[in-house]
Amino acid sequence: MSAEKKLDRYGRWIPSGVSARTVDHAELPVIDFAPMFGSDPEAKKQMAQELKQACMGVGFFHLANHGVPQSLIDRTFARTAEFFALPLADKMTADATQAPGYPGFYPMKEAVGGVARAMQEGFNMNFALPPDDPHMVKGLPLHDRNLWPEKPAGFREDMEAYFDAMRALSRRMFGAFALALDLPEDYFDALTTKPITLMRVNHYAAQPDAVDDEQIGGKPHTDFECFTILAQQKDIVALQVATGAGYDEWISVPPIPGTFVVNIGDQMTRWTNDMFASTMHRVVNSNKVDRTSIAFFAGTDYDAEMAVLPTCVPAGEAPKYAPIKSGEYVLGRVNNAYEGALAKKTA
Ligand code: OGA
Ligand code: NI
Repeated sequence: MSAEKKLDRYGRWIPSGVSARTVDHAELPVIDFAPMFGSDPEAKKQMAQELKQACMGVGFFHLANHGVPQSLIDRTFARTAEFFALPLADKMTADATQAPGYPGFYPMKEAVGGVARAMQEGFNMNFALPPDDPHMVKGLPLHDRNLWPEKPAGFREDMEAYFDAMRALSRRMFGAFALALDLPEDYFDALTTKPITLMRVNHYAAQPDAVDDEQIGGKPHTDFECFTILAQQKDIVALQVATGAGYDEWISVPPIPGTFVVNIGDQMTRWTNDMFASTMHRVVNSNKVDRTSIAFFAGTDYDAEMAVLPTCVPAGEAPKYAPIKSGEYVLGRVNNAYEGALAKKTA
């Protein structure tokens, strides 16, 4: 452990080094989501209590019995592997700099001569709305059309099918979060009709000799939206979460077959008055093979008012945060993160 601590741009500590400790399930719980598909209120309540504990603790957990068919997950990973294996020119047919918003392909900067994100490339899609949708007519950002590469065949169909499955799961998860927060199960329904949603396929280069934590594929960060549903490529350990008594240690999150990794994002932390933890994480792919993950960032409607939830404010205390529109909060964070990493060629 180094004596001097690095800080991120928000002044938060970043544990140093590239190594991490492997933990057991007591530290990173596995939550059985099966009760949310049934109608037993006691079973749901029990699950919601476990969820609450995980969210108030490490802010990360594995989600089991989530209802998404393994065949769909496998097919999506196979299709994204086909995409990333293409020559750069083919991937650049969906060049993210060519369209408004953040959808499309982001090359590894080493492939185009830069330094940022040297060990990572990615493909983003969002919850695109048609131009005549009232949200678009109003000019609300973060719902731009998606960009699709010319190859491989079937890429768009498979990505959209996976995105739809994530949307369905995220709605059910909002129900579980509501129960965990002592709110009615349908509390978030009216706030998630056309939610701000980003899905990102991350592709990390192999870095078996990684020693410098400045040169890793996924820099330390927290996610911005309410929660993230992450599919990890099987058998490859690379995701790390900052934890420990003094928040000074990285722990590894080895993939567990049949589960997603879920973590809380900054929007949920603010909404819950800091009760739920949005925890810093990073990706160090010190394996001999490349690695892919698919992150689905679940947010709420752009116009949804985000005032601290009443069940999260102790009696006699004032909320720590003023109300804000969800979209304004998330847009600020997203623009800040992509600033400089992406010079737009279009306005
Ligand atoms: C992310 C992220 C982790 C991973 O995309 O925000 O943290 O394992 N991904 O790829
Ligand atoms: Ni993340």
